[in-house]
Parts: sequence; structure tokens; C-alpha cells
Amino acid sequence: MSAKVVVGTQWGDEGKGKIVDVLADRADMVVRFQGGDNAGHTVVVNGKKHVLHLLPSGVLREEAACIIGPGVVCNPFVLLKEMETLRAGGMSTDHIRISDRAQILMPYHCYQDELEEAAASSKIGTTKRGIGPCYQDKYARKGIRFHEFRDFAGFEKRVRENVAMKNKLFTGVYGGHEMDADEMVEQFRAIHDQIVPMIVESTHMVNDAIKEGKEVLFEGAQAAMLDINYGTYPFVTSSSPTSAGVTVGAGVAPSKIDQVIGVVKAYSTRVGEGPFVTELFDEQGEWLRKQGFEYGATTGRPRRCGWLDLCVVRHADMINGLTDIVLTKLDVLGGLDEIKVCVAYEIDGEEIPYVPSDQEDVAKAKPVYVTLPGWKEDISVMKTWEEIRGIHRRIHRCAGIDGFRWTRSHQQHRPQ
Ligand code: IMO
Ligand code: MG
Repeated sequence: MSAKVVVGTQWGDEGKGKIVDVLADRADMVVRFQGGDNAGHTVVVNGKKHVLHLLPSGVLREEAACIIGPGVVCNPFVLLKEMETLRAGGMSTDHIRISDRAQILMPYHCYQDELEEAAASSKIGTTKRGIGPCYQDKYARKGIRFHEFRDFAGFEKRVRENVAMKNKLFTGVYGGHEMDADEMVEQFRAIHDQIVPMIVESTHMVNDAIKEGKEVLFEGAQAAMLDINYGTYPFVTSSSPTSAGVTVGAGVAPSKIDQVIGVVKAYSTRVGEGPFVTELFDEQGEWLRKQGFEYGATTGRPRRCGWLDLCVVRHADMINGLTDIVLTKLDVLGGLDEIKVCVAYEIDGEEIPYVPSDQEDVAKAKPVYVTLPGWKEDISVMKTWEEIRGIHRRIHRCAGIDGFRWTRSHQQHRPQ
């Protein structure tokens, strides 16, 4: 029994949902601790495809309590829609709870995201789900939290004050339109009775579960390179999608976390703007996109594709303190004669093994590749360890896994 964290190690879309789906089978509680409905998790259960944005993938395990944690920016309308979809699929949603400390992502945050992106000379390429503006308000201490929603009269007052301020910004700075506070209040009034019973004081619930020795799974959205502090700033999201994010976003001390599982995709993808050292602009990139079906689950945008970048994975390993690595989508690379893996960056003639802080340096970086032989076997049909054992070592080498700084615990978890 333990507290486990699942995090992305690249730019998101590593297949975290799939891993969570496997781990959630044993979980008593699944917790989201950061981000909002910018995430996009595609999970196939019993042949049925579910795309989730706000709810963690672990919600599909109905026996485990599912918590939208304090660090999340939660759009309640999206939440209700996702719950409705699950119920239409015959699932229960009675196990879903929202932290009273979570921020309510408001309709004006979505509009602000749109206006800010349209006005920016250097665009981030956000998902336009209002994530950045909601975190801006949170840290400016102007956000509205779920506990405030219980008393509707008080909530209404906050909404009216905030809408008045936002309207000045929208019209005065961005040349946009005003938002109608009356309409917004009525939209919230209509969902009040559905939302309020889900609001709980989650921090005690989560810590008590850990104390009682229950299996608690913290499900990260996004990934290390989108981290607000350690990602490719400013081309990042506005939260901490790392193991440290669990501490601030779920109220769990670092010493309580037993396992940090990093999900690594066997190649790289990125949606949105920002430097991407191993990006491929040729047919090889197009091939990866087609083979791996790399199109955004949230926005439908084609994902930018490139070779595996071990500078990125090392960076993610360092800031997360990974105890385990799950390598996904390795089957996509099957059939290639050669596979490239980036082991260092060359910047102004100097070779460096880590990701620099300044995006101008990252943009200048040339990938230093190691070229490895590919394999022809279709490993996607191999379902048992016996089947894959024969080519496992070769695949590991092909994927550059031997280039890793394996820690003691990595070795423990590394299959022989
Ligand atoms: P999952 O959980 C990939 C990217 C956006 C944009 C940047 C900022 O599916 O891995 P935001 O809307 O968060 O302000 O956008 O972050 N982004 C993601 N990219 N996977 C995600 O989530 C992402 N969530 C945000 O494309 O570049
Ligand atoms: Mg995704």
C-alpha cells in the first residue's frame, strides 16, 4: 500500500492515462493535483474509447474515490459534461469529489485566454481552456474557490465584482466585448445543486487514506517540460506537473510519497509553440505522426514529432526524483532501419547534457544523436513477457535506455 505519483516526462501525451488505468485497478483513491481541462487522456476500456480532460483517467475505476484536488483549476461545466458522458456509458459518477480549495475556472477565464493569445506577439499555443488566466487570478488572490460556491449569495457577489473588473480588461485593453454577469450567475445557479454535494475538504481525506495504508494514486496531467518553473518557459502551462506538484496541489508532504512513475514516450511530441530540439520536419516526422496517431486529444491539432530526447528525460528524472520509468509507444518505432536518440545538445560549439533555462539557447541547440539499429518485429501483438523477452534487451538498447543514469530503484524495477 502506498502513495504513487504518475507524471509525464516530456511535453505531455506520453500515455499517462493508459498507465494510470492499469495502476488504478488496485487504487483506493485517485487524485488530480494540478491543471484543468487542458489535459487530454484517451483511454480504451473494454473496447470503448473514453477521452477525458478534467477527470483523471482513474475515474474509470468506480470503486476508488476520485478527487479533483486543491491545485486544480476546475471548470464545473466541463466536469458535469464529462460526468454525463460517463453515465451515458453506464458508469457511476458517485465516487467523484472536488476539493473545497480548488479554483473555479470561470467563463471569463476562457475568454481571457482567447484574447491574450490573439493579442500576443509570441503565442504560447494554449488549449484556450482558460488555464493561464485562472492561475493568474489564483496567485493574484482574486480567484473563487469551491467552498465559496456553497453560499450562493456570497458567490454571486464575487462573480459580479470579478466580471466588472474583467470587462474593463476585455474592452479597454484587448478591444473585446463585455461579458454578461446576469447570464453567468444564472448559468451557475443552474448547476449549484449538482456541484455542492461533491465539494469536500479533500486534504484530510487524502492524508488519512495514506495514513491508513490505502493505495493512493496521484495522476499528473501535462508533463515536466510544460512545468511553470522547469519547463520551456514561457511555452509552458501554468502549474507544476511534477511530483512536487503533489505536495502543493494535494497537500501531501514529500516524505509521504513512495513511488514516482515517469511516463516516457519512445519518441517526442509537442503541441503548441516553443523550442523542440529533436523535432523532425521531414517525412520521418510525418511517419511518426501517422504511425503513432499523434493528433491532440483536446484540440485536435497535429502534434509536432521528433526523436527521443534524453536531455529532456534526464531533466524530468532529476526534478521528479523518478523511481520508475514506463516506456510507451515503442511499438510505433517498429519497422525502422535506424532509430535516433538525442544524448546531448550542441550550443555555440559546446556540448551540454542538460536542458538550458533560456529558450533562445534551446532554440539554437543542435541535437547530438546516437544512431541505433531498429527492429522489424511487430511488438504490439506481443502480450506476454516470454514473447518479448527475446528482443527486449535489443529494444532497450534501441530506445537508448542504456544511456540512462539508472538509480538503485530504477534497477530494482528494471526487468531482467
Ligand atoms: P496531457 O495531460 C500536451 C500545452 C498546450 C500549450 C501549453 C500551454 O494530455 O498530457 P495551456 O492551455 O495549458 O495554458 O497551454 O501547454 N498543453 C499540453 N500539451 N498535453 C497536455 O496535456 C497539455 N496541456 C497543455 O498545447 O503548448
Ligand atoms: Mg493528452
